[in-house]
Amino acid sequence: MATWSAPGKVFLFGEHAVVYGKPGVAMAIKPRVFVTVRKTRNPTRPKSPYIDECFRMMGVRGSVYVHSQLQSSSGLGSSAAVTVATLSAINDEFNLGHAREYIAETAFAIEKKVQKGRASPTDTYVCANGGMVLITGNSKRRLPPENLQVVVGNTLVPHSTAKMVELVGALQRKHPEVANPILDAIGALTLAALHNIGNPKELGQYMDMNHALLEALGVGHPVSSKLVLAARASGAYGAKITGAGGGGCIIALCPRRAKSRVAGAIEACEGRAIITSIDTDGARKE
Ligand code: PMV
Repeated sequence: MATWSAPGKVFLFGEHAVVYGKPGVAMAIKPRVFVTVRKTRNPTRPKSPYIDECFRMMGVRGSVYVHSQLQSSSGLGSSAAVTVATLSAINDEFNLGHAREYIAETAFAIEKKVQKGRASPTDTYVCANGGMVLITGNSKRRLPPENLQVVVGNTLVPHSTAKMVELVGALQRKHPEVANPILDAIGALTLAALHNIGNPKELGQYMDMNHALLEALGVGHPVSSKLVLAARASGAYGAKITGAGGGGCIIALCPRRAKSRVAGAIEACEGRAIITSIDTDGARKE
């Protein structure tokens, strides 16, 4: 029997603009998905196209048990975490000897297949490797980890990443003269934020700017706005949509002492709060 876990992820800066080749920064966060795999003659496992594909790609059969601290379809990368943890546990239980890189690439191939080509390599990379990652075009680079204190606010409004990416695409085609400068500005503020990564107060201001620009792209939602404003009013350094928007989650960068107050303010707006911080571990044997 082998148990492996993998973390969720948030976008700190640059979502949507990364689709247009601009830089983005993503970070693995503490809530995890735990997967146990066991060699058995009569495999039992949850109904999941991701898990089915993991066994097909690895060419073995086995039982699976999943315990997830991440809500699915919230933009926190839960499908990538399930896929990476399952592949890692299969690799271990059947002594297949694959490296972490192979696991991340296979997980991306599985996400692409299950999500019909619409997967992002960011989720699988960040959740396999942990820490903070700079994404530029097809290249990904691990950044030195910063101990950022974060509260995630889930709007509980379901969203579709594919639809939101398409919405920005439609705006960009219709009004390139408006959309392109917004995407450029997001890229520029992401780079400026990277230069100030050790200064949370400053980072908070960049988050606020990034949020406004995401709203200008049309991926805002009344509930995300409410949670962002509540987080700022209760002491966050800054707050923004994280991920595709149109619902989904927000993140607030907070002084450590303000985290529970910010979480309380999010819950008072009927969002679900997760108090968290960076996870430097990536996929890990339990
Ligand atoms: O919904 P999420 O958290 O998986 O974020 C999607 C991020 C986008 O930039 C909108 C799309 C992408 O593939 O990078």
